Amino acid sequence: MYVLTVLFSLMAAASASKPVRYTVPNYLKAVTSNCTLPAEFVVTNFTISTNKNGTLDTVCFQFSDPDTEIRTTCQRNSTSTPSGPSKNIYGCDNANIAFIYQTTGIAGLTLTEKACPGASPQFEASGLVTPELNCTDIPTGTICNAEQRSLQGDFDSFQPIPPARRVRGTWRG
Ligand SMILES: *[C@@H]1O[C@H](CO)[C@@H](O)[C@H](O)[C@H]1NC(C)=O
Ligand SMILES: *[C@@H]1O[C@H](CO)[C@@H](O)[C@H](O)[C@H]1NC(C)=O
Ligand SMILES: *[C@@H]1O[C@H](CO)[C@@H](O)[C@H](O)[C@H]1NC(C)=O
Ligand SMILES: *[C@@H]1O[C@H](CO)[C@@H](O)[C@H](O)[C@H]1NC(C)=O
Ligand SMILES: *[C@@H]1O[C@H](CO)[C@@H](O)[C@H](O)[C@H]1NC(C)=O
Repeated sequence: MYVLTVLFSLMAAASASKPVRYTVPNYLKAVTSNCTLPAEFVVTNFTISTNKNGTLDTVCFQFSDPDTEIRTTCQRNSTSTPSGPSKNIYGCDNANIAFIYQTTGIAGLTLTEKACPGASPQFEASGLVTPELNCTDIPTGTICNAEQRSLQGDFDSFQPIPPARRVRGTWRG
């Protein structure tokens, strides 16, 4: 399987179109033909902490995408501002990457990466990994590390990003 993946990656590098686990709508094929689509990602050093109430305080990990060559730190803490309709999306240091971590609903760590940043319409790829946590009590609550030092994930969903809200009363065309 791994060998196949590598083989496909090499073929894709040569042909500039990488096999991805989602379908790119036909009307986007021209726009995306010149860029590297997000196909897979690696999450390293996933750590969370919770307070005495069991409330999630911090989330921290390293993200990397071997194809688009994005490596960034993703962090959620008391100063982070979530976005999205459910106010559960947190940005990484690289603005093309964002994440949701939750233990209910779609439980686990969902990563999103903008596909062909700057393209219009702007799409994003997303995928889920589920860290197995190893938790230790500390005076302020608990701290948990993923048992897996690194987690490999596949982007398997491809969706348009809703246009950013503009100045009130202005429609984005
Ligand atoms: C793709 O790149 C080529 C060469 O850089 C350029 O001529 C072409 O217009 C680009 N196509 C799109 C859809 O951006
Ligand atoms: C993960 O943590 C280890 C030990 O703290 C560190 O050596 C390594 O560089 C970290 N990995 C990444 C991708 O930051
Ligand atoms: C527990 O939750 C309450 C209300 O949500 C909060 O005011 C309090 O600071 C929390 N306690 C700890 C130890 O974080
Ligand atoms: C909180 O997270 C932000 C990134 O979202 C980071 O810039 C900041 O240094 C973090 N603060 C602390 C106290 O770790
Ligand atoms: C859990 O963490 C403890 C302390 O950091 C470590 O000794 C133990 O090996 C870890 N267990 C697993 C399954 O990773």
